[in-house]
Amino acid sequence: MKRTILIHPDPRLKKVCAVVLDVSDAMRALADDMLETMYDAPGVGLAAPQIGVMERLVVLDCVKEDGDKPRPLVMFNPEIISSSDETNVYEEGCLSIPEQYAEVTRPKEVEVAWMDRDGNAQREVFDGLWATCAQHEIDHLDGKLFIDYLKPLKRQMITRKMQKLKREMARG
Ligand code: NI
Repeated sequence: MKRTILIHPDPRLKKVCAVVLDVSDAMRALADDMLETMYDAPGVGLAAPQIGVMERLVVLDCVKEDGDKPRPLVMFNPEIISSSDETNVYEEGCLSIPEQYAEVTRPKEVEVAWMDRDGNAQREVFDGLWATCAQHEIDHLDGKLFIDYLKPLKRQMITRKMQKLKREMARG
């Protein structure tokens, strides 16, 4: 089932999410909903707080080329174990901040540990878009958005645009 994506500013996007203690059927169903919502948007990643669920769960799939096999990843309690000193600059966007993009500098490679859909421990080194996306999504679980990396003026400008967008959406 497709879920509604919260738009910034929203207090739920600024909170630290709770650790998932048990990968239950309900949590698996939630992950499936998030994948459906992400692909539909379309986007390359989605974190649970973006649909108002305050739990440490993200989904991602950074395979972007048409015709390449999709690789949906479901991560419960994802954690960055180590980061490279080398950095990368990507123009980032966010499904909770539609149509706003800005360059963000982050470590080029990260090793991430998480629990998969079956509750098994996983660990993998990501680079390129996957590394950026994993870091962006994990930030969401700590109430951090990509615009928090920008200079205050730019961040305020984007936030004002989003407030305007939300007023327009409320009016219908
Ligand atoms: Ni995002």
